[in-house]
Amino acid sequence: MLYDANPTLEGVKTIDEARQGSVFFKEYGVLSNSPGLKHFYIESYGCAMNFSDSEIVASILGDVGYAPTRNMEESDLILVNTCSIREKAEETVRKRLKVFALMKRARPGIKVGILGCMAERLKKQWLEEEKLVDLVVGPDAYRDLPNLIGGAEEGGRMVNVLLSREETYADISPVRLDSNGVTGFISIMRGCDNMCSFCVVPFTRGRERSREPFSIVAEARDLFEKGYREVTLLGQNVDSYKWENPETGERADFADLLAMTAAVHPDLRIRFSTSHPKDMTDKVLHTMAAHENICKYIHLPVQSGNSRILEMMNRTYDREWYMERVESIRRILPDAAISSDIITGFCSETEEEHQDTLSMVEWAGYSMSYMFSYSERPGTLAARKYADDIPEEVKKRRLSEAIALQRAVGLRYNQGEIGKTFRVLIERDSSKSDQEFCGRNSQNSMCVFPKKEGLKPGDYVMVRIKEVTSATLLGEVM
Ligand code: 5AD
Ligand code: SF4
Repeated sequence: MLYDANPTLEGVKTIDEARQGSVFFKEYGVLSNSPGLKHFYIESYGCAMNFSDSEIVASILGDVGYAPTRNMEESDLILVNTCSIREKAEETVRKRLKVFALMKRARPGIKVGILGCMAERLKKQWLEEEKLVDLVVGPDAYRDLPNLIGGAEEGGRMVNVLLSREETYADISPVRLDSNGVTGFISIMRGCDNMCSFCVVPFTRGRERSREPFSIVAEARDLFEKGYREVTLLGQNVDSYKWENPETGERADFADLLAMTAAVHPDLRIRFSTSHPKDMTDKVLHTMAAHENICKYIHLPVQSGNSRILEMMNRTYDREWYMERVESIRRILPDAAISSDIITGFCSETEEEHQDTLSMVEWAGYSMSYMFSYSERPGTLAARKYADDIPEEVKKRRLSEAIALQRAVGLRYNQGEIGKTFRVLIERDSSKSDQEFCGRNSQNSMCVFPKKEGLKPGDYVMVRIKEVTSATLLGEVM
């Protein structure tokens, strides 16, 4: 496969693990040395949206004669698509920049560019701080890359961090990097208007805007025709997707978009991420119920189980509202799995309030959660309004408690699946053995099972679950 992952990269998470949107890293490309072509090497950090953006960048660069490589040493251009969500994500990138500095010392002609959220957050500061950076390009400025690269080649140090109210890259056909050829991301909107007080995203990705639906459906159809069998529709808050045809007044909300995409083909599965509890409607749930091929899985981050903390986080819902939304999911989609994001040790959080988060994990029965300790981000509402007053060791202890509980709840959830048979889309060999395949069921649980003659990635199979761990279902093909 052209863009297969580099199997020698130890400890590197795969794009499959990045699909729900937390902080991971992957490098991309082919080991190639096509003569005459220039090569770029790109590393992506952060959420699935960033991974998807790197595929847009690859397309824009391809148009001006740059091919991807996964060998940094043969590249003419090193790009790093960065994340600002927590301090640790930024530290990781800074460490990588030191490696690129060494590379640049050996080959002074090579150009280094910072893309994405850290580029946007730190803007020109990069050029002052990091003398090795030639390009600083924010998430809405990727179309300007050829021009900026041209300037850098002439010795300039180039910056474009303009945010846009319109840019959705709707007409750009992403170059699928590191793809298994079965599952792909489609960006349906950009930016975020939700001002959660802890979050840097509204500052780094700008105002929310939705991509026109026909280009989304066309992209899904194109992927299906190329053999893909699953697409994940991406947005910071997919439930606030809205589009109106300026000429006809025709409208589409997220439920409409889901139905349109599901109609591409019954064998094309649709996933989406991320849902916001304040905006997730019963209309979306009914649309999911009406289409077999819309996966019965909702990533519905609660962040905290306590209403006072939720108010300080500016999440605009309280514990009761969240519980009512979960009850609606249970009523309309009884077999759906729900997962969450959780932050421990937010400003002024008491032990009792932390217990409310734990009891929510227990009550909601999440199949899995991404959990983080609070990391203050400069410029956010919380940084301006509240003291980051929970000691680091308390934040970490609360995080460990939440992780331990989620592990137990996840295991219990998985044990409930023993004996059931699921339709699984085969994605690839399992990470432990080339005698086994892995793939997900509709509920997004990873299933591992021995290979059978004639089966290949992209096929659907019925798998009966025999054993489980807290993260995986183990079964056999029926
Ligand atoms: N500190 C810790 N976690 C954060 N997240 C967002 N901002 C912060 C922060 N400042 C988490 C939220 C979000 C996920 C993508 O990252 O849980 O849903
Ligand atoms: Fe994605 Fe947010 Fe990180 Fe930007 S800051 S890469 S939007 S997770």
